[in-house]
Amino acid sequence: LRRPAFRSPPPHPSGERPPRIPAERMPAHVAVIMDGNGRWAQRHGLPRHEGHRAGAAAVRDVVHGALEIGLRHLTLYAFSTENWKRDPEETSAILDLLRQETRAYPFEDLDVRMRWHGRADNLPQDLVDLLDMRERSTRDRAGLTVTTCVNYGGRDEIARTAAALARRARSGRLDPDLIGEQDFAEHLPRPDMPDVDLLWRTGNEQRTSNFLPWQAAYAELHFTPDHWPDVDRRDLWRAITEYTRRQRRHGAAGPAPHEPATAPREGA
Ligand code: IPE
Ligand code: IPE
Ligand code: MG
Repeated sequence: LRRPAFRSPPPHPSGERPPRIPAERMPAHVAVIMDGNGRWAQRHGLPRHEGHRAGAAAVRDVVHGALEIGLRHLTLYAFSTENWKRDPEETSAILDLLRQETRAYPFEDLDVRMRWHGRADNLPQDLVDLLDMRERSTRDRAGLTVTTCVNYGGRDEIARTAAALARRARSGRLDPDLIGEQDFAEHLPRPDMPDVDLLWRTGNEQRTSNFLPWQAAYAELHFTPDHWPDVDRRDLWRAITEYTRRQRRHGAAGPAPHEPATAPREGA
């Protein structure tokens, strides 16, 4: 079977090109809390659903920028388990937009693998079918994996994982006394999702709102003031560039302050 030839993403209208990031500094997985659609709409005197529509355009641009910079995993928080608290008019507008974007699929001829993550049971069945269909239709693509979190909640994910572990223990195939982090990770609904390196939230709020608590346990955090519809791929590039300057330690000791970077020359 011949691999389809993928197009390269359209450049940003400004003509700006992605910064060159050394491979060893590049985050493998960037997760984004796309916040501020409602406030953006309010600022423009528009109904909230117009904010979500404008947000969808920002998503397209950021996905193009992720491809250009060579990111492997981009995960987007589109609708949380807590967002059901909103007016039904707004929740159905958000789900409608997700339907439209999944159906239209603006990334058709790009090397983008689409996946989704979240609870299927209280979502409209036709949306679940669409998301599953898109996942199947792009599963052989190897460039950028874009995971859309729909009806996603971190505590819900952890509770479901605990239930999966309990079922396995009850079946006698897992000893509860030996359950460790690796077992937990293997029973997550999306066990192959890598750890989040960089968690970026727009919209001027400094919280993680139940997003990927397991995968982002050691993520570098990046908060920006702009409302999501005002964001474009260059903000993703800035976030990644800033990430490259972070010193990640994962609990280990940092370099001693006076330690020379290279061994001193003999006799020096
Ligand atoms: C984020 O924007 C999108 C969703 C939560 C679906 P908001 O709709 O939360 O926008 P603000 O925070 O009210 O401005
Ligand atoms: C987080 O934004 C959820 C999404 C972006 C989908 P919210 O706007 O729902 O978060 P809170 O309510 O400000 O914590
Ligand atoms: Mg919000």
